[in-house]
Amino acid sequence: MKIVKTAEEVRAQVKEWRKEGYTVGLVPTMGFLHEGHKSLIVRAAAENDKVVVSDFVNPTQFGPGEDLESYPRDLDRDAALCEEAGADLIFNPEPSDMYFPDATTYVTMTELNEELCGKTRPIHFRGVCTVVSKLFHIVAPDRAYFGQKDAQQLAIIKRMVRDLNFDLEIVGCPIVREDDGLAKSSRNTYLNAQERQAALCLSKAVKLGQQMAAAGEKDAAKVVGAMKELIEKEPLARIDYVEAVNGINMRPVETLDAPVLVAMAVYIGKTRLIDNFIIEE
Ligand code: PAF
Repeated sequence: MKIVKTAEEVRAQVKEWRKEGYTVGLVPTMGFLHEGHKSLIVRAAAENDKVVVSDFVNPTQFGPGEDLESYPRDLDRDAALCEEAGADLIFNPEPSDMYFPDATTYVTMTELNEELCGKTRPIHFRGVCTVVSKLFHIVAPDRAYFGQKDAQQLAIIKRMVRDLNFDLEIVGCPIVREDDGLAKSSRNTYLNAQERQAALCLSKAVKLGQQMAAAGEKDAAKVVGAMKELIEKEPLARIDYVEAVNGINMRPVETLDAPVLVAMAVYIGKTRLIDNFIIEE
């Protein structure tokens, strides 16, 4: 497995692979990889001849006062996980390799970014769409793999690929959880022992919402209300949002008729965590 820094090196390698007739899968990440990322890489390796993992903490998707500087980084650890999971190439650029200092071009999204994380992170999805577009152009993969934990991101990327005629398939993969239910996240490393325990209120709320929906409750406000009530009992938790939206266009819904996404962002101490469940047709 190789680790490269520049778009040119990635392109040269992919060109070689294409000459051999190989298919290519891309797993975009911000590094500090965990079992959730590993599941994406394993799936990509099963479905493609070659796998590229991008490992890049993308500055354009962090707003002022967010955790860009403190975001955990450990390339050696990431490389070991990638190798074990079956990756062939890690693309680990510096911000200066990815962005010209006078860059003025961004990929923006309307409507789908107005609810959920888009409300409190107004420039986040512009940064995500821009870097993911650049990665798609650099790697030109057949398939790209994203986790369902970032459900709004997944919906936005699917829409961007459709709207801008990118020639690849987007594959959404299930949330991977710790044994006690907490969704795996690089940001879980910010939590101290007490916060780690408190963070379970997210997955407990997901479970409660899923149970209510499975029992036939269709009233979105009732389900969201019960989930919020559960989270509010946790003294270290502060809700950013708990919302039920249409699973495709991300608009708020009153009735839980599939496809629906019920998503939340909750601060545990200073750490903002997300979780969700989907109601599928
Ligand atoms: O989900 C992430 O880790 C990031 O948002 C992504 C897709 C790698 C873009 O920087």
